[in-house]
Amino acid sequence: MRAAAVFPAKKSLQVVNDFPEPKLESPTAVKLRVLNVGVCGTDRDIASFQYGFPPPEGSDFLVMGHECVGEIIEVGPEVHDFKPGDLAIPMVRRPCAHPECLPCRSGRQDFCSTGDYKERGIKQMHGFLTEQIVDDAHYMNPVPRAIRDVAVLVEPLTIAEKGLIQALDIQKRLPWGNRQHKAVVLGAGPVGLLGTMALRNAGFDVTVYSRSREPDESADIAKAVGAKYISSQDKTVDQLGAEVGNIDVIYEATGVSTFAFDVLRVLGTNGLFILTGVPGNHGPVSIDTDKIMRNLVLKNQCLLGTVNAGKDAFQNAVTGLAAFHAAWPDAVKGLITGRFPLERFADPINKQTGIKNIVEIGK
Ligand code: BGC
Ligand code: ZN
Repeated sequence: MRAAAVFPAKKSLQVVNDFPEPKLESPTAVKLRVLNVGVCGTDRDIASFQYGFPPPEGSDFLVMGHECVGEIIEVGPEVHDFKPGDLAIPMVRRPCAHPECLPCRSGRQDFCSTGDYKERGIKQMHGFLTEQIVDDAHYMNPVPRAIRDVAVLVEPLTIAEKGLIQALDIQKRLPWGNRQHKAVVLGAGPVGLLGTMALRNAGFDVTVYSRSREPDESADIAKAVGAKYISSQDKTVDQLGAEVGNIDVIYEATGVSTFAFDVLRVLGTNGLFILTGVPGNHGPVSIDTDKIMRNLVLKNQCLLGTVNAGKDAFQNAVTGLAAFHAAWPDAVKGLITGRFPLERFADPINKQTGIKNIVEIGK
């Protein structure tokens, strides 16, 4: 089989032509024919060696790809929830082996407490940028045919859905009420725009604050789903704060820590700041910690980091994406701006263009 891989020792990206076809090795396993795989900032960081781990044991390369939709082509004798022809989205993370890791032992490896989890296409396990994959049915999430063409967006949407599940839980700490809450989304890349859709779908008043000036295709998508758009080149953080009013939730999707901590200053009373980006190591900067800490305390604020996603977020992402697709079909389709064959997988990894680039493997 063909597979798209990163070779850390050679520092190169290459298509491997003799990657062995995976076999069903357990009665609860399923085999998928890979349809589409999305490329994201994590892949770019791995390929530029800013983030990454040694390849799987015994291999000098890692097959990349963690944002995948595929079609089931074979199921083990003990699989009852899937049949050949079904579409499925595989989860990314696999549990660590430590008996004392309660999250992993409870099926919540997205909260793994030891750090010894594995992630397909990222950490010590081959990913999905290949023709066929095998995994336990337990890690598969069914997805309706109606959203097949955009289903590759489910995994990046899980980041926002996990954030939202936690946000609604955390805000139970106060009388949150059912007035319309105000959210600011930082960044208008795929994670930011999918977060915008999730927040709009949950009834929030949303303002997207991002670098690009209009006219801009990401700004158009934000506005098409009923959000406001403000360029950080036109308005300062203080102007943003004044314009929005009391900001209840800030959803960060840039990975730029200086920008995030600058905007933290304008988080509202009782507000929640959700960080999702993984910045590179750019060294220390100076920020006004007194002001940040005073606000966190005196305004009852909460700062939350979130990574990866559990079954609940995957399920919400599937139903969410179907709802967005029904409400805003052009905006959802407009998120996918580039399609590449497997042979050219390195192009969108080496150079980010448009919004979301995907690799088309099967039809
Ligand atoms: C993926 C997550 C993963 C994280 C850190 C993200 O791009 O969507 O599933 O946990 O990277 O490796
Ligand atoms: Zn990703």
